[in-house]
Amino acid sequence: MSEGVRTSLSISHDVDRSAEPLVRLERLPDGAFAEVEAVVDGDAESLIVYRDGDHVRAWLNICPHAGRRLDWAPGQFLKSKDGHLVCAAHGASFELTGGECVAGPCRGESLRAIGVTVRDGAVWLGD
Ligand code: FES
Repeated sequence: MSEGVRTSLSISHDVDRSAEPLVRLERLPDGAFAEVEAVVDGDAESLIVYRDGDHVRAWLNICPHAGRRLDWAPGQFLKSKDGHLVCAAHGASFELTGGECVAGPCRGESLRAIGVTVRDGAVWLGD
């Protein structure tokens, strides 16, 4: 018996990520955030997923200030009155189009965007 063909991790990851959505739209109301775990570039990462009407954006859940998660508990994100995502660690505020820090200790830096698409009533990893 041969050992067969070995598949690299990145290939099996590609299969995995196309098989299951990050989150279904009915669980992500307009204006809401979700935190999901996903494999990005071979690493398990926490993602911020944000719905803006028909559009959904995602970023790594890593603050450019000190590398902390932005949620104060898993999936619990702070949103300011002016509609910015506020890092729970030290209060950096991020606008929710490009993920740029507009106030706080990392002003001018940005969250790392992750490409997602909406299809079949769900959010999927990849453009
Ligand atoms: S780690 Fe986010 S503001 Fe400091």
